[in-house]
Amino acid sequence: MDYIFNRCSIRKFKDEPLKDDEIQKILKAAFSAPSARDLRPWQFIVIQNKETLEKLSTVSPYASFLKDASMGMIVCADTNINPSLDYCQQDCAAATENMLIEANALSIGSCWLGVYPREERYLKVNEIMKLPKGIFPLWMIAFGYSDQKAVVKNKWDESKIHYEKYKKNLLNQDALI
Ligand SMILES: Cc1cc2nc3c(=O)[nH]c(=O)nc-3n(C[C@H](O)[C@H](O)[C@H](O)COP(=O)(O)O)c2cc1C
Repeated sequence: MDYIFNRCSIRKFKDEPLKDDEIQKILKAAFSAPSARDLRPWQFIVIQNKETLEKLSTVSPYASFLKDASMGMIVCADTNINPSLDYCQQDCAAATENMLIEANALSIGSCWLGVYPREERYLKVNEIMKLPKGIFPLWMIAFGYSDQKAVVKNKWDESKIHYEKYKKNLLNQDALI
């Protein structure tokens, strides 16, 4: 559980390749995720080629550090398997969180990089990767050995826990009117 509690996004990486068995374990974690109707509507594109990483790092202003990652991954929804992109996203998100946790357990830093639903971003990924019909790039992940101090935030928030019934937030009464 500590690997969940002390995970944080890492955006600075050492210039060192990941080991093959580590990559396999990260992928194994993805494939262990639950999915609606057990359809597993995902495709994972593993990228270690520096030129491709550099191109993908321009997909969004918040992905620039992907060029320095040891490995990038494009998490894709496969709408040929499940035509509902909404369900695909939920399933792929579960797989992604599993990978971030497994990476942390292996002392590998990672950061989720948003793509979908920003049209200019997913079109750019498509242009770079020439993805086939029905394959939607949802987001990317940067992986690498960390070269920064980990900043683990305390996100525990009692006000967002509701036992038995939804408790009204006295500070937010206006929102209900
Ligand atoms: C859907 C999603 C999209 C994200 N996109 C980006 C991104 O484009 N660039 C980035 O640096 N971090 C991105 N993040 C990471 C968040 O900024 C980070 O998870 C958040 O600030 C909480 O910090 P923590 O991961 O260290 O707990 C994204 C996270 C999620 C879940």
